[in-house]
Amino acid sequence: MAESSTTGGVTRFGSTQRQDTWWLELLPVIVVLGGFGLYATLRAFEGKFYEWGPYISPFYSPLIDANHHWWPFSPAILILGGPLGFRATCYYYRKAYYRAFFLDPPACAVSESSGRKYRGETAFPFILQNLHRYFFYLAVLFLCFLWYDAVLAFRFPEGFGIGVGSLIMLANVLLLTTYTFSCHSLRHLVRHVTPPGAGSLF
Ligand code: FES
Repeated sequence: MAESSTTGGVTRFGSTQRQDTWWLELLPVIVVLGGFGLYATLRAFEGKFYEWGPYISPFYSPLIDANHHWWPFSPAILILGGPLGFRATCYYYRKAYYRAFFLDPPACAVSESSGRKYRGETAFPFILQNLHRYFFYLAVLFLCFLWYDAVLAFRFPEGFGIGVGSLIMLANVLLLTTYTFSCHSLRHLVRHVTPPGAGSLF
């Protein structure tokens, strides 16, 4: 095993005894998650090309003040906080972006930068990650809108129909539903609705 690098007893950033290409794990997250973040931001702030026939972009649903009566910017900005908050505070995403973008730490058994006092998620701003369970409730509400949109995506002026967009919107909401209902925070909901002594599946 290689020796870990230390300077004056302080472990150097990135030092590790791992001999595998641990940094490779970071690349897909940087490319895919970073790329998605960039694309989603551009689309949300663009404020146009979000409806076509029976389809509506999920970034814009529910569509609020599309005609700019009181909101002069992209309608997506009005709802962005819900989905963004749910994703940003998700346990899985946290692990992914803490490693890939903050390098804190870059990977298991790889040193982070020294001299930083570890406070976990007990102080601002990371204490806000604990809002995840409340974003979960909001995400369930958003799912209702997305299911509604998916149903409408099969309704064409001539009646019922199936287009590529209908299938994409259906696949999108199905995947989002499975993602949302596999959330750790579902346990909080189950615990609150389960009568005492009834046991729990979670
Ligand atoms: S932990 Fe990932 S969605 Fe809740």
